[in-house]
Amino acid sequence: MKAIVLVGGEGTRLRPLTTSTPKPLLPIANIAFLERQLAWLGSHGVTEVVLSMGYLPDAFREHFRGDRFGDITLRYAVEEKPLGTAGGIRFAAEGINERVIVCNGDVLTALDLGAMVRFHEERGAQASIYLCRVEDPSMFGVVPTRDDGEVVGFIEKPPRDQAPTNWINAGTYVLEPEVFDRIPTRVNVSIERETFPRMVETRGALYAYEYDGYWLDMGTPEKYLQAHADVLRGDLGALPTPDARELSPGVWVQGDADISQDALLDAPVLVGRGACIEAGASVSGSVVGEHGVVAEGAGVRRSVLHSDAVIERDAEISDSVVGAGARVGAGAGCSDITLVGAGAIVTAGSHVSAGRVSAAESTNQR
Ligand code: GTP
Repeated sequence: MKAIVLVGGEGTRLRPLTTSTPKPLLPIANIAFLERQLAWLGSHGVTEVVLSMGYLPDAFREHFRGDRFGDITLRYAVEEKPLGTAGGIRFAAEGINERVIVCNGDVLTALDLGAMVRFHEERGAQASIYLCRVEDPSMFGVVPTRDDGEVVGFIEKPPRDQAPTNWINAGTYVLEPEVFDRIPTRVNVSIERETFPRMVETRGALYAYEYDGYWLDMGTPEKYLQAHADVLRGDLGALPTPDARELSPGVWVQGDADISQDALLDAPVLVGRGACIEAGASVSGSVVGEHGVVAEGAGVRRSVLHSDAVIERDAEISDSVVGAGARVGAGAGCSDITLVGAGAIVTAGSHVSAGRVSAAESTNQR
């Protein structure tokens, strides 16, 4: 089976983390999100994936260093200008004349893809959309259906009390090749706002598959942190990463991390390979990236440190993300969903709350 993964977006809501790393390559518990997604696709029999790219395409080539990921063959389709979700699919599907799975490159899910494909086949659909259920659909595209699953319409971001259903478009599709013909070439088209709503006019073409298991769109800072909490809790599998060893219940380590006996690790925690947690440091509900450092007296709570991030003495990080190779100076603080971009510096003694710190404008803001 073939798949197209949409990875061309700029990921503006996660800036500055996405300034140098495209959103699908950001780590979720020390594994690039896209690697997790490819492993999931592979586990459901996908053997060929086209990455539909536009923003920072070289980052993907460098990450995968070739055209293989496990048993999957990778192909790269690079848009010269953003073509939107449908335009990107059309461009990536050049030369494909069979059924494809299409996924947004920012959705973590435990969906049984095989069951969805069977549903699609049984209905003889041209396209099937995976729907998941959310408490508050007012930020999403809501998809009402008939009893047999046929889609009757699309409602973008309905007020909570007026939403006809809580089932939303979860960003994974099964498409037959005739759907590609419905998309104009080389122009920006949205599949969720243009192609699918038009397909509703053709009876028997568009169906929706409801699955109420784990689903998360990791595209906002809050959800990005949530994805880590969920993976650490075991919502997506017993191990947060395949190579993690459990030191004590909920405290995981990869490889040869250097953890002082006098450091406090409060589960759930994942410490990456080669990381160093010094005496008197405390880490709780967090991920420390590979070769990261949490120095003496520093505290990291409900946060994510990417590889080579350094938290100096007595610094305090809570509910925040510190990017690759970034440095939080001695006694500094980051809190309330602060994002520190790769290579950025938070000056010693400064405090950033709900802030964005990029390498270009590293800060000592208070
Ligand atoms: P924000 O800027 O934060 O909204 O993130 P985003 O750019 O990723 O946009 P959004 O989350 O709406 O995109 C959903 C999925 O479609 C993501 O996997 C994007 O990578 C992908 N995507 C968005 N626009 C394009 C595009 O023009 N071309 C391609 N190939 N993919 C796109």
